[in-house]
Amino acid sequence: MRRALKIHMWPVWVLQLATQGKSFKANPLIGSRLLNTLGLHMIRVMLARLTAHIRWAMLAHKMPKALRQDFQKDGFCAIPDFLDEETLSAIRQEVASYSGEARQMIQGNTATQRILLDAEAIEKMAQVSTVATDKRFLDYLAYGGATAILPILYIQRIRNGFRQAKADPQKTMHADTFHPTMKAWLFLEDVKMEDGPFTYVRGSNRLTWKRFKWEYQRSRVAAKIGDGYSEKGSFRADDDDLKAMDLPAPEGLTAKAGTLVIANTNGFHGRGQAKDGANRIEMWAYSRHNPFSILPGFGLKWRNDLEHKILHRFWRHKDRIAEEKNSRASWHLIDAQDMLE
Ligand SMILES: [Fe+2]
Repeated sequence: MRRALKIHMWPVWVLQLATQGKSFKANPLIGSRLLNTLGLHMIRVMLARLTAHIRWAMLAHKMPKALRQDFQKDGFCAIPDFLDEETLSAIRQEVASYSGEARQMIQGNTATQRILLDAEAIEKMAQVSTVATDKRFLDYLAYGGATAILPILYIQRIRNGFRQAKADPQKTMHADTFHPTMKAWLFLEDVKMEDGPFTYVRGSNRLTWKRFKWEYQRSRVAAKIGDGYSEKGSFRADDDDLKAMDLPAPEGLTAKAGTLVIANTNGFHGRGQAKDGANRIEMWAYSRHNPFSILPGFGLKWRNDLEHKILHRFWRHKDRIAEEKNSRASWHLIDAQDMLE
């Protein structure tokens, strides 16, 4: 209640309703039990779906029909042999000899290691650069993300059992946020079941009546859920929840090197259970867009460069804060060589 007295914050909280803002905890309007009982969350969910479908229709020419049908029916599409073996081995070599900025985040017992593919990084990796700027690749990602705005690309390695700790929270099935949003994986090595493949609940991208009811009930209590993620707007769904929504069991998407998987991460997904020590490496992409915009935007390179700059600034800022506290930032610098086997 005391928060409601922070009058200067009210305009921010109100404006956030028209953005990607998703935290039930940080924004008392998004988290309001009363407003969500009256349907605020579900109005945002439905409006965001409606506008995403308008943008998907506008971008339909960017992906072949069969893939689009898979994507809309299942929540993801997989394109085997998107890259041939020769290209893959050239990319693996470039990554292996890369010397530049790499960062790592540890969640539970799992480490995520990333190289941001900004202009500086791809200048050092010719083959990576060819793929990162390939029209077909970017077209598919644009359709998946329902936006022409260029995605943020990384080389990413997931290391399971990196340290002794609690389970990795990303292994619980979850929806990233309240609106359709795209993530993509272009696997650089084969991913077997024991490597903890990307896992998806087939069809969970669709707003069925049962998902609607579940989402509505969650939204009323979300501000008070204490799992560390749901209250921030990324709902977790356990086996009982999936059953209640008539959804199938999560499916580990094993893949051959060179496969491209594009997913709508508004559907339930997570990382698969893996053997300790198992890891996978991929080119990884995500896209950002105002969920309520009916226009898909433009693929402007300068905007992409600016976003990279902002990311670097943000990370450096977090480094400095952590340094003052004698600790390290959650996305801390590592030696690029640590991304190798
Ligand atoms: Fe996720």
